[in-house]
Amino acid sequence: MFSLSLAKHDTPAQLHLTGNLSGAEVSAARDQLLGLLPLPAGPWQLDLGGLNELDSSGAQLLLAIQRALSSIDQPTTVSRVSPAVHEQLRLLNLESLYPAARTRTDRCPVANNATRRHPWPLSASSAWLWPRTTEMSSELTPPPLGDSEFRRLQKLMADASGIVLAPNKRPLMAERLTQRLHHYRLDNYADYLRLLDQPPNLNERRLVVELLISNETYFFREHPHFDYLGSWLAARQAPLKCWSAACSSGEEAYSLAMVAQEHLHNGDWSVLASDLSLSVLEKAGDGIYNMAQAKYFPQGWLHRHCLSGSGDMSGYFRVQAVLRERVSLRQINIVRPLPDDLGLFDVIFLRNVLIYFNNEEKQRIVQRLVSQLRPGGLLFIGHAESIHGLDVPVRLLSPAVYERL
Ligand SMILES: C[S@@+](CC[C@H](N)C(=O)[O-])C[C@H]1O[C@@H](n2cnc3c(N)ncnc32)[C@H](O)[C@@H]1O
Repeated sequence: MFSLSLAKHDTPAQLHLTGNLSGAEVSAARDQLLGLLPLPAGPWQLDLGGLNELDSSGAQLLLAIQRALSSIDQPTTVSRVSPAVHEQLRLLNLESLYPAARTRTDRCPVANNATRRHPWPLSASSAWLWPRTTEMSSELTPPPLGDSEFRRLQKLMADASGIVLAPNKRPLMAERLTQRLHHYRLDNYADYLRLLDQPPNLNERRLVVELLISNETYFFREHPHFDYLGSWLAARQAPLKCWSAACSSGEEAYSLAMVAQEHLHNGDWSVLASDLSLSVLEKAGDGIYNMAQAKYFPQGWLHRHCLSGSGDMSGYFRVQAVLRERVSLRQINIVRPLPDDLGLFDVIFLRNVLIYFNNEEKQRIVQRLVSQLRPGGLLFIGHAESIHGLDVPVRLLSPAVYERL
């Protein structure tokens, strides 16, 4: 759902957008905005209170708005940026829209678990001055990414994550990294590579990897797996140790936690949630999600296992502390040797990540993870993935579900 309004103090909104905006509708909204130009002097108020998600076309629209506003010689405020949108703006490097967000902390008002501190504004009175610079003044059209630059970025990515991006991913790479060129006000990738290398800029390299990896996930994704696990657990007496080995922002790990809580009679379970990307792990740690993400919850589970937000957090839910406390988070790169204190697991979810690796890497990863499974334990991979032909001691039980021999 996309909703934002741009208004001048004491006057009706000049631009009010709501609904699920398709690419064409976003273009229409940009045209509408251009029709308003030049905007008269402010103060202007951009209210993002109804903005729950931001896709790349939404980001483009926000950039267009920023351009329009930065031409006005009056301060403009941006208000009510939700945690989810803040996170997306951060990943897209659009948080410079409101620089104070980087340092500001507030209490999270979600029900009775309001003990953590969070970097987002929480009341309508929270507002940041719009930057007066034209930091991202040009359109986000990627400059050309040449062969040698593509190969160097491909290598950087492979060294850090094991993922070898195919040549057909070149446009995607160029599009995603354009944000960083704008950030540094560079107009070509050769300069950006120099910045990454001389001297090695580890933080920036980490960001490149994060921008190029897909983190798509949702609760109860590929739900037959959770049904299968539920039945498997119902007959179980022993404690349960699960691992979500590429957990992204935590939806998979918390889905596992809910299934364990519902089906394991002895109540003795734990989940390790790991990923390469620190930014998704941070989100997983918060355990706060947009209400729309509860779409595939089994009936009644949202109310049993989550708390709903109120005030500025309305429209969000948070996984209950009793579950969050049993989900531990850790950064683990599955292409590297695993930490030696992991112990053995009863269930490992390794879903929708193998797809990024070639066969040799896949063999090493699956072997590594299967060696962390107890005999009789279960390995789940994504339905679109295959480990057929790999030399690993497992047998197929159900689609994309294997038992460790
Ligand atoms: C598409 S998401 C899948 C999330 C979840 N497993 C699911 O099925 O919904 C892929 C995740 O794999 C993670 N990933 C990619 N390479 C990795 C690596 N080498 N080690 C650990 N995690 C990695 C990414 O950061 C991303 O969060």
